[in-house]
Amino acid sequence: MQTERLTNTPAHIARAASLLRAGECVAVPTETVYGLAANALDVAAVAKIFAAKGRPADNPLIVHVLCVEDMMPLVKELPECVKRLASPLAYVTEQNTLRTPQGYKRLPKSVAFFPGPLSVILPKSAAVPDIVSGGLDTVALRIPAHPLARAVLREAGIPLAAPSANRSGSPSPTCAGHVLDDMDGKIAAVLDGGECSIGVESTVLSLAGDVPELLRPGAVTAEQLREVLGEVRISSAVLSDLSDGETAASPGMKYRHYAPKTPVVLLRDSSESYAAWCGANDCMALCFAEDAQYLRVPCFCYGGREDYDAQARLLFDGLRTLDESGFAPLIAAHAPEPIGVGLAVYNRLLRAAGFRILDV
Ligand code: TXA
Ligand code: MG
Repeated sequence: MQTERLTNTPAHIARAASLLRAGECVAVPTETVYGLAANALDVAAVAKIFAAKGRPADNPLIVHVLCVEDMMPLVKELPECVKRLASPLAYVTEQNTLRTPQGYKRLPKSVAFFPGPLSVILPKSAAVPDIVSGGLDTVALRIPAHPLARAVLREAGIPLAAPSANRSGSPSPTCAGHVLDDMDGKIAAVLDGGECSIGVESTVLSLAGDVPELLRPGAVTAEQLREVLGEVRISSAVLSDLSDGETAASPGMKYRHYAPKTPVVLLRDSSESYAAWCGANDCMALCFAEDAQYLRVPCFCYGGREDYDAQARLLFDGLRTLDESGFAPLIAAHAPEPIGVGLAVYNRLLRAAGFRILDV
């Protein structure tokens, strides 16, 4: 199959939408990472996502919609708190815009996580095929903010199932080049929207139990969610591996994830000790800007030590770039503090490293 290269033009957006309506897979940019989209209501189309990614059938997909109203047919019932995450007044219709009786109004950023980098898990309706939910009776829903993702959703007029557009297990794609590295020839098209502004996948929040539970950390932090929802539990799987016999709240957490071909090890220490460890081992460094002056090995700086937003944005590109360079047989990643967006970066690195952490 020849993978069409599409760009941000009305004709190409229409092409992406028509391929999707015809049951094909198209990689689409979102503000988090690129997603591999297909019609969520078409079992054969969704099967193509699993085939292209090599994704295990029991790992469910996130369904993307334009607004809260479009969530309704996909769930048993929409809890009141979802409306609070979107807005105190009405439903989000356009990017960060509310429709109120007085007309359209921009939302204050702090109350609106929809549209944005947040996915919520709710009991699903019969409209959602089992293949989408990996056999679970819940479904993950997200309202992306990226203008191209929204344009495609609007044109296509269907809910889009979309996991990250990488081969299963490898780092998520944050630009069209990453998508093509993994998916060229396997999918109908990729819509190039440049680099993703956030760079790590959405926060996954389960609203299916009695207390909201954070299953995957992202750019919407637990602290921000608590301001709106009150109590929010953090799943033990965010920072630790599953013990034997334990079942995953989120099936994706049991698989090797985000990992380049080169093994990764995680270090938490001062710049000097980190650089000294790197110097004594045959490795490449995924490092902080502060480390560079001490390092004598090939390195990729993914942001300042406390610049968690930059680290999130550059993490997957750094892992992919070091992997491709082949300069050394090991990637030594300098791990951020697991706070704020740093928790999302730390969580991805832990999985990329198969939970190998060294305290130097
Ligand atoms: O930012 C994102 O979320 C990106 C963009 C494309 O939207 N998508 C993404 O999808 O990261 P994916 O498939 O790579 O990750 C979805 C995660 C997996 O860990 C999966 O197990 C979990 O969400 N998940 C999906 N549905 C679930 C459900 N019903 N219950 C529990 N976990 C679920
Ligand atoms: Mg993924």
